[in-house]
Amino acid sequence: MKTPLRVGLIGYGFMGRAHSNAYAKVNHFFDLEHQVVLKAVCARDDAKVKDFAARWGYESTETDWRKLIAREDIDVIDIATPNNTHAEIALAAAKAGKMILCEKPLSMTGPEGKKMVAAVEKAGVANMVWYNYRRVPAVTLAKQLIDEGRLGRIFHYRAKFLQDWTINPELPQGGAGLWRLDVKSAGSGVTGDLLAHCIDTAVWLNGSIAGVSAMTETFVKERKHNLSGKVEKVGIDDACAFLARFQNGSLATFESTRYARGHKALYTFEINGENASISWDLHDLHRLQYFDHRDQGTTRGWRSIHVSDGDHPYMKNWWVPGLQIGYEHSFVHQVADFIRGVETGKPAGPTFRDALETQMVCDAVLKSGKSRKWEKVGK
Ligand SMILES: NC(=O)c1ccc[n+]([C@@H]2O[C@H](COP(=O)([O-])OP(=O)(O)OC[C@H]3O[C@@H](n4cnc5c(N)ncnc54)[C@H](O)[C@@H]3O)[C@@H](O)[C@H]2O)c1
Repeated sequence: MKTPLRVGLIGYGFMGRAHSNAYAKVNHFFDLEHQVVLKAVCARDDAKVKDFAARWGYESTETDWRKLIAREDIDVIDIATPNNTHAEIALAAAKAGKMILCEKPLSMTGPEGKKMVAAVEKAGVANMVWYNYRRVPAVTLAKQLIDEGRLGRIFHYRAKFLQDWTINPELPQGGAGLWRLDVKSAGSGVTGDLLAHCIDTAVWLNGSIAGVSAMTETFVKERKHNLSGKVEKVGIDDACAFLARFQNGSLATFESTRYARGHKALYTFEINGENASISWDLHDLHRLQYFDHRDQGTTRGWRSIHVSDGDHPYMKNWWVPGLQIGYEHSFVHQVADFIRGVETGKPAGPTFRDALETQMVCDAVLKSGKSRKWEKVGK
């Protein structure tokens, strides 16, 4: 008999769906001692939340997250709501002794994130942040190759996350679907939304970032606000590019924008080491490009590794070799690793503390964008 792990999900938007899909699949594909139970989903619109619960198989609904947290039949609180709600919900959930899975970015700012880390560590509850790209098998394979020392000393890290959905100046800010354009809900623009993913992957693969020099821009300065009905100043960064120095001495460039016409979600990174290089592209997420200078000269070149074999990370849990998986599977892997962490007592990352490091880099980037100087990443 498996131990039930009763989930209480808050938010039924994009991530609410991605997480629900992961909970639904994880026990079918991974051997775990726990059985995920979709106990309750919470969102403010009663009719819509009931509809969501029926579609995804949640046993019950709530319209106030405080009531969800107060319930004794919930073990894990999953925060899939806009960024400005993460801290308040997480602090209350930790106080109630619940395990917490929180969407990224951890918080609006580093200082807010520190309070969240202190709360989960004081309560001793399992915690994790949904930086899911770590668990795309090709990205996990990149981590394995780096940890095995295949690349040797690392000189360069290059990351981009490009989109094009906010170019229209008539697009309003705020409210359902557009909270990302409202600084009060999002905290920042592309820095917290997209670069946070790039930073989490980079720190995981290549260690801590020591300092940054950034430029940020807000191309559309005013937009109508959906909640107030008035034209208001836009407070988010529409685009951000920054240089970084890692503590290991390697140099990096990061770029993100929502104004790169033609790009919908182009997350790419490339790492150049003394012996080898790797690169990865979200649009071709099941492949890892690998170049090894130690290969025999006449056949040396970039290899395109189709990460779908049984000895590739996570792949033995899926289909037969050669058949690839996709975006949604990274969330299934994250749930599986979270549960294994609970079962073994060895927490899987990124924990709140790990995610705080990304938050501190984001803070330094935004500070540098304003000061136009190099800024150290705070502790
Ligand atoms: N890991 C990833 O790749 C990834 C991708 C997208 C979004 N995110 C993060 O996930 C979070 C949610 O983003 P999204 O794209 O799912 O947004 P969304 O707008 O699609 O959904 C947000 C949900 O939160 C609900 N909500 C808002 N305030 C609430 C409250 N006070 N109480 C209960 N429900 C409330 C909304 O009704 C909606 O259901 C954000 O923090 C975002 O940064 C992460």
